[in-house]
Amino acid sequence: MVVARSLDIPVIDLLSSSWKSGRREQLVSKEIVKASEKYGIFKVVNHGVRMDVVERMEEKGMEFFSLPENEKHKAGPPNPIGYGVRSIGFNGDMGDLEYLLLHTNPSSLAHKAKTICKSNPNSFSHVVNEYVEEVRDLACQILDMLALGLGLGNYQELSRLLRDSENDSLLRLNYYPTSYNVTFKDKNPNLGSSRVGFGEHSDPQLLTVLRSNNVSGLQIVTDSFNGETWVSIPPDPTAFYIIIGDVLQAMTNGRLKSVRHRVITNPQSSRLSMMYFGAPPLHAVIRPLPEMVSPECPRKYRAFTWGEFKKAMYSLRLGYNRLDLYRL
Ligand code: SIN
Ligand code: FE2
Repeated sequence: MVVARSLDIPVIDLLSSSWKSGRREQLVSKEIVKASEKYGIFKVVNHGVRMDVVERMEEKGMEFFSLPENEKHKAGPPNPIGYGVRSIGFNGDMGDLEYLLLHTNPSSLAHKAKTICKSNPNSFSHVVNEYVEEVRDLACQILDMLALGLGLGNYQELSRLLRDSENDSLLRLNYYPTSYNVTFKDKNPNLGSSRVGFGEHSDPQLLTVLRSNNVSGLQIVTDSFNGETWVSIPPDPTAFYIIIGDVLQAMTNGRLKSVRHRVITNPQSSRLSMMYFGAPPLHAVIRPLPEMVSPECPRKYRAFTWGEFKKAMYSLRLGYNRLDLYRL
């Protein structure tokens, strides 16, 4: 697939869209739906997330990835929670990266923190909990606005899945070292002196809240040009990117798009990204919502639980087309 120029993906300004502000709220909700239908990704500014919390989380992440290899490995092996160095991707598009994957449940986090930050596990858990609370609130606000824009009867129909105390949400920190030492063998002529860091995939959950340092690398597949093309999404450390996942695609009966994306490494600088993956409880039943089904748009997916979906994804090593397994 060709790597194209850049694309102006929609920017959603949340500043004046606090609840009950009426008309403005309606307009922003429609913009969010449009962006999620067309691109499956959008940028959020004036998001209300405290930047001091974001910076503390980034600092903790950098501290961790700067540890000697043997120290980092004490936080692994990922099962899938913990530290890992892995090749990830599908469709022949694989890349290598280091990552730290955490459950957002405070008690599971407190347990894991002992192997991640031996000198001060409480301070590590505190920072992660603070960050997760902030980004979960943002994710819930986006889901409430999506529900409004889609005309769902209950505006908390989607966010209740993340507010449930048994939600299965994760936080992942990815670290991509620079690609200055890329060998000839690894080179992809389309990528110049970069290489694939995190290969092509879609996110399985409801949605992802992504924030990275000021280093480029994120790309999405779009059909906005002639045929399918990779386009770069410029980094913005002051903003968040929202990526629509498979669960939202299924619940909206295919109306919202779980976007295929990847990350390429940067020849000069290392990239650190932090992703909150908002997921339902394992027992939650996912099915197209009644408001999304009509004679013109018949039901596309059969019901499945989030736990069942996750299990199939890991055991069958399903790629970005994994929702096809549940297609009617
Ligand atoms: C991901 O797609 O989950 C990773 C994105 C990133 O590391 O920026
Ligand atoms: Fe992703």
